[in-house]
Amino acid sequence: MSPKTLISAALSGLLCMAITTPVAARGNVEAGREKAKVCQACHGVDGNGIGDGQYPNLAGQYEDYLLRALQAYKSGERNNAIMTGFVATLETQDMADLAAYFAAQQGPLSDLRHLK
Ligand code: HEC
Repeated sequence: MSPKTLISAALSGLLCMAITTPVAARGNVEAGREKAKVCQACHGVDGNGIGDGQYPNLAGQYEDYLLRALQAYKSGERNNAIMTGFVATLETQDMADLAAYFAAQQGPLSDLRHLK
């Protein structure tokens, strides 16, 4: 193989990686607001769980934590009958939007965004 062929083979390999490597979906708060309507019955309108601590507060939680939790329910790594049912209908982008929405709500939980 000539050096030129080698370089072009290496470059096309890199290109393939760039195309097939999944890009982390960016969550959209406004899209998440719509999608969150089905979650409100338990997690509250603004992500502060209803009842006396029966349902976790999602408001103000780290976005990547929320996304990770949803992915874990989806993969079965985290098992909860209720949440497994809810994530079954969610696509990757839905989970990212929901995580962005709940992270942007106010509640007793807080992350360190205010320091940035
Ligand atoms: C019928 C009630 C109910 C509904 C509706 C519901 N959830 Fe949940 N959710 C729960 C319960 C109960 C838990 C705690 C489960 C556990 O212990 O893993 C939970 C846990 C979670 C967690 C993990 C919280 C943490 O602190 O680890 C996330 C994230 C979450 N729900 C998001 C959602 C989203 C997004 C929706 C809407 C698509 C939704 N939930 C709808 C009851 C509900």
